Amino acid sequence: MAGAKRPMERREDDRLILRVSGLKTYFFTTEGVTKAVDGLDFEVRKGEVLGLVGESGCGKSVTALSILRLVASPPGRILEGRIEFMGKDLLRLSDREIRKIRGSKISMIFQDPLTSLNPVLRIGYQLSEVFRYHKGMDRMKSLRESIRMLKTTEIPSPEERVKNYPHEMSGGMRQRAMIAMAFACEPSLLIADEPTTALDVTVQAQVLKLMKEICREQETAILLITHDMGVIANMCQRVAVMYAGRVVEYTNVFTLFSEPAHPYTEALLKSLPRLGAKRTRLDSIEGQPPQLHRLPPACPFEPRCEYSAARCKEEAPGVTCLREGHEVRCHYPINGKKE
Ligand SMILES: Nc1ncnc2c1ncn2[C@@H]1O[C@H](COP(=O)(O)OP(=O)(O)OP(=O)(O)O)[C@@H](O)[C@H]1O
Ligand code: SF4
Ligand SMILES: [Mg+2]
Repeated sequence: MAGAKRPMERREDDRLILRVSGLKTYFFTTEGVTKAVDGLDFEVRKGEVLGLVGESGCGKSVTALSILRLVASPPGRILEGRIEFMGKDLLRLSDREIRKIRGSKISMIFQDPLTSLNPVLRIGYQLSEVFRYHKGMDRMKSLRESIRMLKTTEIPSPEERVKNYPHEMSGGMRQRAMIAMAFACEPSLLIADEPTTALDVTVQAQVLKLMKEICREQETAILLITHDMGVIANMCQRVAVMYAGRVVEYTNVFTLFSEPAHPYTEALLKSLPRLGAKRTRLDSIEGQPPQLHRLPPACPFEPRCEYSAARCKEEAPGVTCLREGHEVRCHYPINGKKE
């Protein structure tokens, strides 16, 4: 049958939760046009954790905000692309439809729960609201559900904790409450933007373990945004490395660490402390991070790349598929050079 899909492809499509293609989100400011997201492509499948990693300012949070349609406008605008979530293009939905999806089918956790929690409302009220709004539960039932959810996140004495205001809880406890809220409606996709960056190392590990467990139970797909390669190694199956608003390498976590193909990924890994050291954040790769309103005309990484050649200054690199599931945006991928 012409054009029919093979059984394997069909099975893969069934598991597809999110497909972002050709996404461009720019900011129009007095300084010029900031191309925060500039032709982004990636996919997330049911039950998997996809890591989105890259230096500060490369467009990770703007990607998350674009998916949720929360980009500040003006100055921001989504210019092009598709964000297909379970077969529907989120960019074509009405405001009412997208509001219904936010917090139910797609949940989010941000770095600082204090910015997402309302300081003047008790935790129990805020959590109950999720059940009331998205599941139509009455006051008593939604409160019972809230207590059950807090129990799932291992918050001690949840019956008491529901009466707390956010400032009466520790940072770790607030992030657990956010997790309870994020998973309350059993979302198909969770977007977690630096969910543990503000927490100390021990609490960070507990919160990540908790996210992993609930995610496995509910088969939730996670888009996990982080600077931290330790978190990537611990949590993700696949990784998209971002540079200047684009994915420059896209592969499984094992290949990323063992055979990075993009010079930027290699530089990120080289900048990490040795195995066993506690610090795994990316903050010291050589050269200046790119200025998004003044990018080099061809390859944006060129001024910092130790493999740069004449072609890199003249022609923007396209995507090369090195093998199934491993893509790189570079004229001279590292593995290619070794051959
Ligand atoms: N509201 C805004 N107005 C103008 N520019 C913005 C706005 N929000 C983001 N940007 C710009 O978009 C670019 C990408 O920002 P983004 O917040 O996505 O970076 P990030 O990768 O999440 O960085 P970090 O790791 O520091 O959180 C940056 O250059 C930033 O200055
Ligand atoms: S295209 Fe050239 S400059 Fe850009 S990352 Fe590849 S080798 Fe480096
Ligand atoms: Mg960010």
